[in-house]
Amino acid sequence: MKFQTTPYHFDLLKDYQRLSVFFEAIKNYDGKNNVALDLGSGSGILSYFLKDYFDEIISLEVDCKAYDCALNNLSDFSNIRLINTNVLDYKFDKKADLIVCEMLDTALIDEEEVEVLNYTRNFLKNDGKIIPKAIVNFAQLVNIERDYVHWDEDANYEVFSQEVNYSKFNFKDEINPYFEKILSIRSNKDGIVNGIKITSVTILDDNIVCGPTPMLNPALLIPIKQQNVKCDDLINIKLKYIMGKGIGSIETQIL
Ligand SMILES: C[S@@+](CC[C@H](N)C(=O)[O-])C[C@H]1O[C@@H](n2cnc3c(N)ncnc32)[C@H](O)[C@@H]1O
Repeated sequence: MKFQTTPYHFDLLKDYQRLSVFFEAIKNYDGKNNVALDLGSGSGILSYFLKDYFDEIISLEVDCKAYDCALNNLSDFSNIRLINTNVLDYKFDKKADLIVCEMLDTALIDEEEVEVLNYTRNFLKNDGKIIPKAIVNFAQLVNIERDYVHWDEDANYEVFSQEVNYSKFNFKDEINPYFEKILSIRSNKDGIVNGIKITSVTILDDNIVCGPTPMLNPALLIPIKQQNVKCDDLINIKLKYIMGKGIGSIETQIL
């Protein structure tokens, strides 16, 4: 089947690793099959994956061009209801067995996954499930070339430590979007450290884990105040951001 998309949603479709982990997680879903929500349905691809398993799929998309594409793509499937709306403005009239929400971004900073799920979780049955299930975040000391927050695509950097697991969020739990933590990371060589690299790993379900892919959580490089470090030095960094409020909300401080 050929999908009509916007250029952005076409890039999402071309990311086969991203698509296959969602496809497998939906196929593996073993809960009840009445109602599924596809939040941020874009071109409609995840609703297309859901269509054989659920009596009713409610698919919400804020972008009107993506919504128009999805209307065309999914017109043959009477169990999919597409609505052009911001999820946060939508009054749900029934509870769902499954929520699928791919508004993921590295450490959940730049997209609305947290706010959307904090709202929509009220419309999930007690035994309902969410795909993805959780996200785990790692930080690493680096030397970066650019002095602003950027994703690691085409960026050069030198690694100065192991990756340290600094947070995990289960999407069935209410999530406080205001994140603040002191990271203690040990340098593994001498040199100049001026950044941290944040990597997120998505846990789709109990069996599927996905690292960064080109369109799913590419690693984020964040400048910190330059430090001359020796091998084995412990660097303490306060990291703050607001999930869903964008990379402009990121603050760091060396302690
Ligand atoms: C990463 S894309 C995923 C699209 C599609 N589900 C897929 O997997 O290809 C996230 C989508 O969520 C939509 N979106 C973001 N915030 C939204 C909101 N508050 N309400 C509805 N849609 C939203 C965006 O317009 C975008 O189409």
